[in-house]
Amino acid sequence: MAFSMSSLLFLSSATFAEEKRKLDPEKDKIYEHIIKPILSSNCTTCHGSSKAKGKIRLHNPEEIKKSESVVAGDIDESMMIERIMLPEDDEEVMPPEGKKRLSEEQKKMLSWWIAEGANFEKKISEVNVPEDIGTMIAAMDYSPPREIKKAFNLPEPPQSANDADITAIGKAGILVMQLAQDTKYLSANVINVAKSFNDAQVKLLVPVKDHLTWLDLSRSGITDQAATDLGQLSKLTKLHLENTVISDKTLMEIGKLENLEYLNLYGTKVTDEGLKNLENLKKLKKLYVWQTGVTQAGVDKLKSAVPGIYVNMGWQVPKQEDKPEEPKK
Ligand code: HEC
Repeated sequence: MAFSMSSLLFLSSATFAEEKRKLDPEKDKIYEHIIKPILSSNCTTCHGSSKAKGKIRLHNPEEIKKSESVVAGDIDESMMIERIMLPEDDEEVMPPEGKKRLSEEQKKMLSWWIAEGANFEKKISEVNVPEDIGTMIAAMDYSPPREIKKAFNLPEPPQSANDADITAIGKAGILVMQLAQDTKYLSANVINVAKSFNDAQVKLLVPVKDHLTWLDLSRSGITDQAATDLGQLSKLTKLHLENTVISDKTLMEIGKLENLEYLNLYGTKVTDEGLKNLENLKKLKKLYVWQTGVTQAGVDKLKSAVPGIYVNMGWQVPKQEDKPEEPKK
């Protein structure tokens, strides 16, 4: 359980493969199922809800129309097509030089959609499908977008995080990314630099405290010295501190993170005394304290303060009186 929760965190929304399936031209729509996924995975990080490079956004029909980059039925007049068809080393090519290129297939799909009227509602079977396009569609996989927002209950931040702050975090080797296409919230992990990651680097995260909602510092070199900085990351809903040397001192600050829903303290030096600081975290749903100084008594006390919390203490030898009855046949 603890394992699957933590590995889930490392998958970005773009790489998360779920329920891949083939397209059904009779049911699936040309925009929703073919065009939107292309734009979402290649364009909307710069032209989407959080950024509007070149003053255009391409993440929904309204914005695409507003952008005027698409002229229905006319690929020669459509700036979107002009830009994606430019040679790789052209200054104006989209996505810009250095970013992942569109495949020939994706370029053909965008051109076809615009030539067929850039419709946002029609099913694939309702437009003219030339043979080569039909063959490509038959070979394509469709993966429904991951609905990640439901994972936590926070209002969207009004503005996206400052680019310069994100760049500074990235330069320190911390992997920071948008949690999903449709949110300005960020996740960060130090998996690539865990060994060298230290207390001073936690300071880099404070400027994005209004956006950072998932943080993984497990196996890193942080100590209780980072506690006051951690205590400022008030939008955190998920925090991994497992296998670090932090102790009850850090929990005094963690106790201020009132949005926290998931906290992993496995293999740290925390005790029952520190756990008392978590009693005000009414949203806390999952806590991992395996291989720490925490005892059953400490867990019971926390459970009475935070109703519904699940606390994982790892595998324990059940006491005789706790043994479940033999299942009835
Ligand atoms: C890494 C960021 C980035 C990505 C990804 C990106 N763009 Fe852009 N785009 C820009 C920037 C910056 C500009 C403004 C400078 C310019 O016009 O070249 C721009 C400008 C544009 C313009 C011109 C807007 C105007 O009216 O002047 C179009 C059209 C466009 N992009 C389409 C796309 C499409 C389609 C994709 C995906 C296939 C895409 N872009 C991916 C950064 C990006």
